[in-house]
Amino acid sequence: MDAKALVDAATAARANAYSPYSRYQVGAAALGGSGRIYSGCNIENASYGLSVCAERVAIFRAIAEGEREVAALAVATENGATPCGACRQVLHEFGPTARVLLCAADGTCKELGLDALLPDAFALKK
Ligand code: THU
Repeated sequence: MDAKALVDAATAARANAYSPYSRYQVGAAALGGSGRIYSGCNIENASYGLSVCAERVAIFRAIAEGEREVAALAVATENGATPCGACRQVLHEFGPTARVLLCAADGTCKELGLDALLPDAFALKK
């Protein structure tokens, strides 16, 4: 896996964040099973609850383009924040053991597995 390409894509997507309400910018990049990279940013709305996270935008872009597996996800924030619970569950659907790279604006990244971020995840079947 080209981790640098994935982190670079997440970092570039962060610049496109539409976050006039929180002023918190998030970029994400999902590595599809095909090897292609799909990026996303958070997109807020004046009706706050309609806002969507960067991670889900990236994952949904991958799925909409035909991917069915997400092998890794990079997330770029100011402080290297971890994904919210909803995004962890969405990632679990397509990459239960995905590698997750959490990167801060100072260039430092931390890697975790989704199995560590979302232990005992919900699934319809055992
Ligand atoms: N946000 C994300 O994009 N990803 C997360 O995992 C958590 C939060 C966004 C949503 C909102 O636009 C802003 O960050 C502040 O919550």
